[in-house]
Amino acid sequence: MIALGKKIRESIFSRIIDKSGLLYDLTVHAVHFGARNERYKLIPRLSGRILEIGCGTGKSSINSNEAIHIDINPKFLKRGLRKNRLTIPICASAYHLPFKEKTFDSILVPDTFHHLVFHHKLFRECRRTLKDNNALLYIFDPVKLKKGTNRLQSTADGITWDFTLKGLCNRIFKLSKAHKFRIQNSKIAKCKSIIHLSGWCDILFTLIPYNK
Ligand SMILES: C[S@@+](CC[C@H](N)C(=O)[O-])C[C@H]1O[C@@H](n2cnc3c(N)ncnc32)[C@H](O)[C@@H]1O
Repeated sequence: MIALGKKIRESIFSRIIDKSGLLYDLTVHAVHFGARNERYKLIPRLSGRILEIGCGTGKSSINSNEAIHIDINPKFLKRGLRKNRLTIPICASAYHLPFKEKTFDSILVPDTFHHLVFHHKLFRECRRTLKDNNALLYIFDPVKLKKGTNRLQSTADGITWDFTLKGLCNRIFKLSKAHKFRIQNSKIAKCKSIIHLSGWCDILFTLIPYNK
């Protein structure tokens, strides 16, 4: 993957996991001691038309018959479908959502923001496909509370940044301003996992689109 002349390196570990939904599930289970769904407790009960971007194998997906799940990896979606975790899985990119303007009441981006290189494209697409009234965008992502993180991708839209709490907050703040979202709130969750024991936490941002 090339972004603005810089080669984005993916770890060998990620490349192997991307090849199999089963491997992904096993990794998630091992890392999170099977407690991944706890993060979803942060999100209030959603109604209306819901889009989940980067659903993976659906192991931690929201349980709603009304939700549409998208992911760029067809192998993950296939497993999610086989396991009856995903009702309407669609293989698509967060940068080009195959939906009409003002389709969704809520969009979720769970644990996927740090995989994306072009954040402005994500925000533009979410803004376009969210309805005008009472629509919400939920982004949750892991961040390290201490400095010195080293994630797979360190450039987004040409800006180099790290996944510290401050770095992520600043990034979301700037993107929200540029794409006319207001930050309704942000919440931090800690659940039991190897990742959390080693100083990571999850942060959930709730964003509301505005018109003026
Ligand atoms: C860490 S996984 C999170 C999966 C799931 N949400 C969970 O919490 O278990 C990140 C997911 O984002 C997907 N992804 C990466 N880039 C994407 C893109 N451009 N568009 C859609 N999905 C993408 C990956 O295939 C992967 O399934």
